[in-house]
Amino acid sequence: MTKLTVNNQPVQYRMDPATPLLWALRDASNLTGTKYGCGRGDCGACTVEIDGEAVRSCRMTLAEAEGRFVTTIEALSRDRSHPVQQAWVAEGVPQCGFCQSGMIMAAAVLLKKNPNPADADIDAAITNICRCGTYPRIRAAIRHAAR
Ligand code: FES
Repeated sequence: MTKLTVNNQPVQYRMDPATPLLWALRDASNLTGTKYGCGRGDCGACTVEIDGEAVRSCRMTLAEAEGRFVTTIEALSRDRSHPVQQAWVAEGVPQCGFCQSGMIMAAAVLLKKNPNPADADIDAAITNICRCGTYPRIRAAIRHAAR
């Protein structure tokens, strides 16, 4: 059994400790806002916050997540008032939307660390991939949230 904290709730997973955290979140906790894209750590669709860092949850096992504090998009979206979420709406960021929960998680972590990032900081921090090419609106939304 693997114990960790997910969205401020203690959680115990009775799954193989080698299971990627992504599948524990989606399949056992029904937190399906965290998406599966590549499964290789490349695309960032599966990004969650773990102990203040943006982490690709497809590349972290349950064993590696033991005892850690995980935040998913559902925690940010709960009351629709998170500044990053509001900025995403104001700037009309998503196109197909599939990658956006990972983008928002990465942006939220960036803004915690750097409340007023320059475009170069945004480009360095947000390594997630968007096949619709919404990068200019992502930069605009992060600048919007930083205001
Ligand atoms: Fe994890 Fe693509 S699904 S990085």
